Amino acid sequence: MRYPHRHLLAIEGLHPPEIAGLLDLAESYVLLNRSGKTQRDLLRGRTLINLFYEDSTRTRTSFELAGKRLGADVINMSVSTSSVNKGETLLDTAATLNAMRCDLLVVRHDQSGAPNLLAQKVSSAVINAGDGTHEHPTQALLDALTLRRRRGTLEGLLVAICGDVLHSRVARSNIHLLGTMGCRVRVVGPPTLIPAAAAALGVEVFHDMQAGLQGVDVVMMLRLQRERMARSLVPSAREYFRFFGLDAAKLASAKPDVLVMHPGPMNRGVEIDSAVADDPLHSVIGEQVEMGVAVRMAVLDVLSRGGLRNG
Ligand code: NCD
Repeated sequence: MRYPHRHLLAIEGLHPPEIAGLLDLAESYVLLNRSGKTQRDLLRGRTLINLFYEDSTRTRTSFELAGKRLGADVINMSVSTSSVNKGETLLDTAATLNAMRCDLLVVRHDQSGAPNLLAQKVSSAVINAGDGTHEHPTQALLDALTLRRRRGTLEGLLVAICGDVLHSRVARSNIHLLGTMGCRVRVVGPPTLIPAAAAALGVEVFHDMQAGLQGVDVVMMLRLQRERMARSLVPSAREYFRFFGLDAAKLASAKPDVLVMHPGPMNRGVEIDSAVADDPLHSVIGEQVEMGVAVRMAVLDVLSRGGLRNG
């Protein structure tokens, strides 16, 4: 496959064959993982550092698993135990990591653009694991893999991304990926949580769940990112759930075989009702987590083919 980039910083700018190639490769890792086999030679002798400036459960763990399944030495650096707490700047941290000659650097940061900056300063391949409100490319890839496996193709699917779109890097990466791969995308949420520039991204905007979910193939729910709100943008969790929380009644507007997704962490009873989140007929939330490991293995694989620093 052709992936002519040293890093994975964003979905925006990737071409359909690059995305499809990553998904095809990830597909082979799903099968490998299910068969219980490993491929530990691929990254043997390579070092992967997980540098997380923000909390994470799924993303950090799945990068760790992906690295280990391919034989890399994986080091987890969480900022609460690093020198960043002592005031070290991002660039000084970068210089330190660079001196350690790591091959793959996975970065999550609360500032949009931090992974791009690091990519200019370190000689390792950099993977964006979520930066501020900008992008979360591996999440969009794992969502796409989940959908493609369920529906056979992404082409022509009608997808509603619902909730706190304004603060969501997951939404932004998905809007780029799904649009690039031929889906029609809607965003649904209160006006305070939809970016003013949404329409410019080529999506349809709805402020009513029933209308926004009408006839959709996929509903992607988002968490209310209170940590990114300078002031409260919603009246109360109860009221938010009433109007924008996904429950069986609202889901009834969608196609009968609609798929329900959520990147996690979920706030049950705020953006999604437990009965919907756990409904095996529609919810693919557990599958998304499984696909996350395979997608991250594929990303580590292609970046290592691009010639890592010590290679
Ligand atoms: C998301 C994130 O961190 O952007 N979670 C994830 O990676 N699965 C979404 C969120 O925090 O709500």
